[in-house]
Amino acid sequence: MSLPAPSNDREKVVSKLPGWLRQNLKIRAAQYGIEIQTAVEQGIAHWCKLASSPAAIDTAGADSFSTFLPLGQWDEFRSLTTDRRVSLIQGLAQSVQLWLDANPAPDVARPAITRRIIVCNQKGGVGKTAITAGTGEAMAEDPETLHPVRVAKQLIAAGGEAESSLDVEKLPGLGLRVLLVDFDPQCHLTNQLGAAPLPITGDSLTNHMASDPKGDLRDLIVSIDDDAFGGRLHLLPACNDAFLLDVRLSAVRAREAALERALAPLEADYDVILVDCPPSLGLSMDAAAYYGRRRDSEKPGQSGALIVVQAEDSSADAYELLTTQIDDLRADLGVDIDYLGIVVNLYDSRRGYIATSSLQGWVDIKDPRVVGLIGDLKEQKEAVRVKQPLLSYAPKSQQAIGMRALAREI
Ligand SMILES: Nc1ncnc2c1ncn2[C@@H]1O[C@H](COP(=O)(O)OP(=O)(O)OP(=O)(O)O)[C@@H](O)[C@H]1O
Ligand SMILES: [Mg+2]
Repeated sequence: MSLPAPSNDREKVVSKLPGWLRQNLKIRAAQYGIEIQTAVEQGIAHWCKLASSPAAIDTAGADSFSTFLPLGQWDEFRSLTTDRRVSLIQGLAQSVQLWLDANPAPDVARPAITRRIIVCNQKGGVGKTAITAGTGEAMAEDPETLHPVRVAKQLIAAGGEAESSLDVEKLPGLGLRVLLVDFDPQCHLTNQLGAAPLPITGDSLTNHMASDPKGDLRDLIVSIDDDAFGGRLHLLPACNDAFLLDVRLSAVRAREAALERALAPLEADYDVILVDCPPSLGLSMDAAAYYGRRRDSEKPGQSGALIVVQAEDSSADAYELLTTQIDDLRADLGVDIDYLGIVVNLYDSRRGYIATSSLQGWVDIKDPRVVGLIGDLKEQKEAVRVKQPLLSYAPKSQQAIGMRALAREI
């Protein structure tokens, strides 16, 4: 059955496909960033060129499937199925399977150098920990599954909470191997993900940074287990001993490089390392910023500082202090530390002019640009309360959708 398609040179065709095949087609087309109709067109063209039909496919339970094909392709296909004595449904299923076989799942795009993302702001409670976790979760999601992602073109026009389904696209997960480093003695990230802070009598990141390790840092890492992350999301928990980090670092040679020395042995196991910084500007922040510096042969914008702010006036002063410290470090040590962007968190346009005008203020900075706008929504607080990753607790929430957009933006 075919219907003329409105306004182009394709016609609508309606047939049937088994659900599993339709799902595979949908995911694979999204992985290649092409439309389903293009994949079906290629599969049918391939099928038509074969000398005989390939192995039969189990089409039990096939149900309605429609797409748009170039004019005439379906008629040619139909007459060939008659010649080859297969049903249209069987022929279509074979065509789709041919396309899948010719276009295997693409490999995950891994960075050549492990990306180091330093999530910072000495202002407390702006959402550094929430953004570290959400971004890391989004980066680790399963590439063989589609997840809703906000694709609003205009951050501000969307008003912070893009409700329209038009603004949401289903995309494959990024499938990266992610290490979240809880670099805050408050242990919030550790607690929020349901892990236990490291006992103060044992080994810790602080010990490794102070050149006083008690074992292999790898042994302290825990996996955040959820099907969506497939064992790719790991956490280096914090320990209360980090409250003394600045004191212990003061005795260490080349202390800016202390975090780098400690984490370097882990880098081969990860595509991305995200560091959740404490709300302070001490030596530990220097070490974190230094760890995010651009390395030789690393492209700009891969590693660096991701600054979390709120849309309110007091955030602006904090921002000045932070960027001054990072700029000083750049100048003193002669290193490049890139700004990966500003995330405006806890945004609520209902707060009126203060919120909208200060969001505009962040956007006007332009460099770094605003790379994420996350609303003040209940799911984040709920996820923290139940100690679950946001993207597994509420994977379809506006917040999760925004975290995925942020992960792709940086
Ligand atoms: N987008 C959001 N919507 C709702 N609640 C949020 C959001 N982001 C963070 N929160 C909540 O706000 C509180 C502070 O967030 P978070 O701990 O991430 O901030 P922080 O900057 O890491 O704080 P600190 O400076 O203490 O490390 C937490 O209770 C968190 O659950
Ligand atoms: Mg925090």
